[in-house]
Amino acid sequence: MSADLRSRYLSLELKNPIVAAASPLTKSLDSLKRLEDAGVAAVVLPSLFEEQIEHEEMATHNLMLSGAELSPEARGFFPEMQNYNTGPDNYLKLIGEAKRALAVPVIPSLNGYTPGGWTHIAKQFEQAGADAIELNIYFLATDLEHTSTEIEKRYIDLVASVRSMVSIPVAVKVSPYFSAMANMAARLVAAGAAGLVLFNRFLQPDILLDELEVAPHLMLSTSDELRLALRWIAILRGRIQASLAATGGAHTAADVLKLLLAGADCVMVASSLLRKGPNHIATLVSGVENWMTEREYASVEQMKGSLSQLSCPDPAAFERANYMKALTSYSGDPV
Ligand SMILES: Cc1cc2nc3c(=O)[nH]c(=O)nc-3n(C[C@H](O)[C@H](O)[C@H](O)COP(=O)(O)O)c2cc1C
Repeated sequence: MSADLRSRYLSLELKNPIVAAASPLTKSLDSLKRLEDAGVAAVVLPSLFEEQIEHEEMATHNLMLSGAELSPEARGFFPEMQNYNTGPDNYLKLIGEAKRALAVPVIPSLNGYTPGGWTHIAKQFEQAGADAIELNIYFLATDLEHTSTEIEKRYIDLVASVRSMVSIPVAVKVSPYFSAMANMAARLVAAGAAGLVLFNRFLQPDILLDELEVAPHLMLSTSDELRLALRWIAILRGRIQASLAATGGAHTAADVLKLLLAGADCVMVASSLLRKGPNHIATLVSGVENWMTEREYASVEQMKGSLSQLSCPDPAAFERANYMKALTSYSGDPV
C-alpha cells in the first residue's frame, strides 16, 4: 500500500508536504499552474513589499492633492510613483486568479519591517481569497543605537498587527539571527503566528573586484544550507503550538525526508525549482513516497518529528554537547 503523504500545515490539509516557496516561479498564473500539474501541495506567492504598499498610498494621496495643495516642484518629485504599477492592485488580482485556477492552497506573502498602517492590506489578501498569509519580516539591525529588545518588540508588534487584520492563519518567516531563537519563536506564536517558516535567507552583498563595486548577490542555495532549519525545527517541534515549515537548502527527496523527520510540517522549495523547473516537484514527491514505502512508514503524519529533539534517542545531538564531540572527533576528510 502506498504511503499517505498528507500533512497538516497551519489549518490547511496539504496533499503532500512539498510547497513552492515564494520565488519568481510563483509570480505568474502560468507557472503556478505548472507547479500544480507537477504535484505541488501549496504555493506561496512572491512577497508584496511594505514599500510597494506605501508607494501606492502616497501616489493616491498625490493624485488627490494634484492641482490643489501640491506645488509644481512637488508634482515633479512624484511622477515615478504615479506610474508605479506593480503595487497591491496587480497583486490582489494574482491572488484572485490563482484561487480560481488552482485547487491547492494559495498563500500570499507580505514583506515588511515596521508595524505601520500598511498592514491593513492583509485584510484585502483575505478578501481576495488567500488561504493563509506568510509574513516575511526582513530587517537588518545596522543602527548602533538599536537594542535587541527594541528589534524583537518590532517583530512581535508587526505579527500582532497583521494577525489583528485577518481571521485566516498567519505564518511568520524569520531570520535565524536571534540570540534567543527558541524564546523568540515562542513569543512570535504568542503574538499570533499560527506557523513559523524557518528561515529567511538574507542576501549577502559581494564585492566585484574588476568593477570595484558592491553588488547585491543572489545565489541559489545548495543542500548544505538545510541543516540550519533542520536543527531549529528539531528543537522546536512539539514545544511550541504552531506549524513549522522548512525553507533553505531542500533540493532532493532525501533533504525533504530529513526535514520531515526533524519535525517540519512542510518543506518549501525555491532554488531547486529555479534550477530544475517545476517538474522537479514530481521527482521530490515520488522520492519521498518511495522511501517511506521501503521503510514501511504508513503516513507523513506518523513520520513527522520522529527524530525531533523530544523524540530522538540522543537529544544532545542538537545542542552544545554535540559541538564538542564533533570538534574533538574530527579525523580529517580524505583530500
Ligand atoms: C529569486 C528568488 C526570489 C525570492 N523571493 C522571495 C520573496 O519574494 N519572498 C520571500 O519570502 N522569499 C523569497 N525568496 C526566498 C525563498 O522563498 C526561499 O525561502 C529561499 O530561497 C530558501 O529556499 P531554497 O533553498 O529552496 O531556495 C526568494 C528566493 C529566490 C531565489
